[in-house]
Amino acid sequence: MKARVHPLRRPIRAERVRVPGDKSISHRALLFSALAEGESRIAGLAPGGDVRSTARCLAQLGVPLLRGDGTPWKTAAPARPAGSLPLPEHDPDMGPDDAIVHGVRMRGLLAPVAELDCGNSGTTLRLLCGVLSGAGVPATLVGDASLSRRPMERVAAPLRQLGARVRTGSGGRPPVTIEAGGAIRAGAIVSEIASAQVKSAVLLAGLFAEGETSFTEPARSRDHTERLLRQMGVPVATRGTTVTIRGPARLSPIALEVPGDLSSAAFLLAAALVAPAGSSMALSHVGVNPTRAGFLDALTQLGAKVALDLKRGEGAAAGGEPAGDLAASAQPLTGAELDGDLVLRAIDEVPILAVLGAVASGTTVIRGAAELRVKESDRLAQMARGLRSMGAQVEELPDGLRIEGGRPLHGAEIDSAHDHRIALAFTVAALSADSPTVISGAEWADVSFPGFFDLLRSLGAEVELVP
Ligand code: S3P
Repeated sequence: MKARVHPLRRPIRAERVRVPGDKSISHRALLFSALAEGESRIAGLAPGGDVRSTARCLAQLGVPLLRGDGTPWKTAAPARPAGSLPLPEHDPDMGPDDAIVHGVRMRGLLAPVAELDCGNSGTTLRLLCGVLSGAGVPATLVGDASLSRRPMERVAAPLRQLGARVRTGSGGRPPVTIEAGGAIRAGAIVSEIASAQVKSAVLLAGLFAEGETSFTEPARSRDHTERLLRQMGVPVATRGTTVTIRGPARLSPIALEVPGDLSSAAFLLAAALVAPAGSSMALSHVGVNPTRAGFLDALTQLGAKVALDLKRGEGAAAGGEPAGDLAASAQPLTGAELDGDLVLRAIDEVPILAVLGAVASGTTVIRGAAELRVKESDRLAQMARGLRSMGAQVEELPDGLRIEGGRPLHGAEIDSAHDHRIALAFTVAALSADSPTVISGAEWADVSFPGFFDLLRSLGAEVELVP
């Protein structure tokens, strides 16, 4: 599908917009409640393709779970292993993005009868590797063309160190096979990369072992796993950049309301910042966990004023996650140097920060973002190429981008490269350009933000979708 995005001619104003539920928290909520002892209820799951992949894989592992929209899957129901417990009954109070999960306990997952298709979702594949290694459930995990190019030795190697038998495909990429016969031992893993996915895989495997398992990384990655495990009754110790859990663990079920995804909110805030004068955007109940709210700090560095009304009291920190209302209005931006810890805490927001850098006056330099080369696409290369074709002056650095901002952006032809954040970032760039932009592969936006184009249209943007 192509999206033809026209420049915004009039100010946009939006109040109390709810963005999709946080993707990182949604994956974990489904996965951890599958291992719990009893029924969990999760409200406001991320509606996109990635979390659906997690739900689908869990169904294939015999976990009884139901999404409010009827099933955990979108098209055909996956085959469930013989002996799977029946799916939960539909509850009339459930919204389409709510779920009921009947936990099967730590040892209750069943071997799947087919490969587990993780679609476009690295979090699904990597976190499941940890769980399946720990549980000793043999399975083969595959993904789509984009996921099949991504590195998996970063999870396979530490899991092998803990005693798992894990094989990766050529070049250390998917398919990843967890073989029967491995037995997880507790251990201390020291990682060269800061990654919440690798950390989570290790800690999840460690939940099944006898004794302490720790993960040390060079800088602290997002801590959703630690927060949710604590909520579910597992003691988690954090010291510097080392996280330690003790197994064998038992998980209590949860009732959780997932906050909105800051990574999705970022595109709307950015759209308001670069829109015609008088534009404003107010978003309700967005997750602002400090280990991944670097985008808000980056906006401050770019000279933007964004209001955050942090919710306190009941419901404010559902799942141990801080949330608040955010508001921004159109305003001039100035270039900034973004690197180090801030970039790690804004790792998924680098594409949209690059767009803001192109609009801002002066130079923006983003460093410390080498990990972007192994995301759903090589995001540094895609952003450099796309922004250049819109008339921006961009230099690609090994670990970032140098952008000479302030030049007018022109309409161009952009390819999403099977990457939701590239499709979404260039849609925002297109809104601030001086002529229409055509984005091919625009449907990839649905991976994290289904309904994005409709939402923009409802705010007055002109976006045509062409099959
Ligand atoms: C995620 C961690 C990050 C992030 C991804 C989601 C998670 O990846 O880029 O979108 O939910 O744990 P890495 O752990 O590979 O940095």
